[in-house]
Amino acid sequence: MKFLRMKDIDLSGKRVFIRSDLNVPQDDEMAITDDTRIRASVPAIEMALKANAAVMVTSHLGRPTEGDFRPEDSLAPIARRLSELLGRDVPLVQNWVDGVKVAPGEIVMLENCRLNRGEKKDDVALANKMAALLDVYVNDAFGTAHRAEATTHALAKVAPVACAGPLLSAELDALSRVMDNPKRPLLAIVAGSKVSSKLTILRALGERVDQLIVGGGIANTFMLAMGMRIGRSLAESDLVSEAQTIIDSMKQRGARVPLPIDVVVSNDVSALSRANRVPAESVGKDDMILDVGPKTSAVLASLISNAGTIIWNGPMGVFEYDQFGGGTKALAAAIAASPAFVIAGGGDTLAAIGKYKIADKVDYISTGGGAFLEFLEGKTLPAVAVLEQRAA
Ligand code: 3PG
Repeated sequence: MKFLRMKDIDLSGKRVFIRSDLNVPQDDEMAITDDTRIRASVPAIEMALKANAAVMVTSHLGRPTEGDFRPEDSLAPIARRLSELLGRDVPLVQNWVDGVKVAPGEIVMLENCRLNRGEKKDDVALANKMAALLDVYVNDAFGTAHRAEATTHALAKVAPVACAGPLLSAELDALSRVMDNPKRPLLAIVAGSKVSSKLTILRALGERVDQLIVGGGIANTFMLAMGMRIGRSLAESDLVSEAQTIIDSMKQRGARVPLPIDVVVSNDVSALSRANRVPAESVGKDDMILDVGPKTSAVLASLISNAGTIIWNGPMGVFEYDQFGGGTKALAAAIAASPAFVIAGGGDTLAAIGKYKIADKVDYISTGGGAFLEFLEGKTLPAVAVLEQRAA
């Protein structure tokens, strides 16, 4: 992958416009509940400030209606958190498209870019106006790289210089490493409630990996495909044949989808639910499978310890409740101990990494949700493609 990198560009005294992904979760009072993306965006900003650039940073937040400002769409809480992290004031500028005042060595945050008319439609006229504000355009927003919007795509086309910031570069380097030339065995863990929401990635990884570990409701649909009983567990019966096709085509090339040999079941899902461990063939008609059992965890742990590369997306069970968290906990421990190169991504996965405290044992944790999955599906990310075109 060839694109210009921010670190190779002379930023000194230049007007540097950084498109970050500061789209972080907030509670009802707009308090930030996870600031990972803000922290991950700091190195690009510090690089520009250190070079004495005049720094503008912007992001989308949520999915506001263009031209219709509501207080809850404001980047104000994000600017506050960023100023804490940088240890300096980060003023927030409204209505910035027609002009921004910022001196070299200073930083401003430009209000939610999705409030500008034309942003979502990747409008070239809007991009041309924004291009007049800057000398160097930096895209550091991996989480939004699958969207062709004015600040992620059209602006990259018309800016005098367009490059990737350190976060975007690191994401692309890590993902390319697992996709282009992975050390084998290559093992993927794809888990979550529904096959339908991850069908494309299951198919795409099913063609590449040596082992595909499925978990959660996805595993239930695969169990159904193998004729196993799943009681009242969450599953999609209309996707059983898709699951079957993935299993069969992997088998043909000597790859496999290991399915549970024991599971943890209950007849309801709550903090107080009683969890029962049973062999997979003993799931009763009223049971719901909410985790894998310890024997399955041991099999998965041994695959993980022998893997050369691991892609992790999704928890094995309903790990929010500890009685259904054993499978995810064991998986996390096995991943932490594995010598494999590990890349992890997706909201639930990050929550599991946090809960079981293995962040420092995972080689790369992606800040992308949809973008992470689309890259692994082999799709072209428009915001990356345009940077590659500019470097060609
Ligand atoms: C995300 O959270 O996945 C990104 O910030 C993209 O947000 P979007 O799905 O609203 O485009």
